[in-house]
Amino acid sequence: MGDAVKGQKICANQQGVGCIKCHAVQGNGGKIGPDLVGIATRYPKDELIRSVLEPSNRIASGYEVLTVVTTEGKVISGIMKQDSPAGVELLDDKGQPHKIAANDIEEKQKSSLSLMPNGLKDGLTLQDFADIVAYLESLKQAPEAKK
Ligand code: HEC
Repeated sequence: MGDAVKGQKICANQQGVGCIKCHAVQGNGGKIGPDLVGIATRYPKDELIRSVLEPSNRIASGYEVLTVVTTEGKVISGIMKQDSPAGVELLDDKGQPHKIAANDIEEKQKSSLSLMPNGLKDGLTLQDFADIVAYLESLKQAPEAKK
């Protein structure tokens, strides 16, 4: 069985897997991926586990990744925030926004990979993983009462 309290600590540990660097919990934390509150209500447990083990297996809508090669030869990948005739706006895996004008784009391509790293589980024991899943399941509702 997983321990949600330990799971919370693992997610919040910036030195470790640091889910919080990219995911907010009720608005607190990174804004790169979706807020973790309520995720467990949208997916059954096995899907939830899969989302963490194989992020690229199914990419949440609105989080598709675009890779742009600029005319200067720079390669920038990020979540596509905007794609218009004027250019694109990407959010990279550090949470850094990039605005690239259409004139500066040599090539752009949709990626089939999630911005969420694939190898996260490598830094986790099975128990850690169970704790994280228990934590996600505890977030079916916003954690107001929990301090
Ligand atoms: C580098 C940033 C980053 C880190 C670190 C990260 N994630 Fe993600 N995560 C994302 C992004 C971006 C998405 C949306 C794209 C996708 O579905 O893969 C996502 C998607 C998810 C989803 C699926 C959401 C949905 O609605 O489909 C879950 C669950 C999840 N992450 C949990 C975690 C957990 C738990 C950790 C820590 C072990 C973690 N993430 C670490 C960026 C990150």
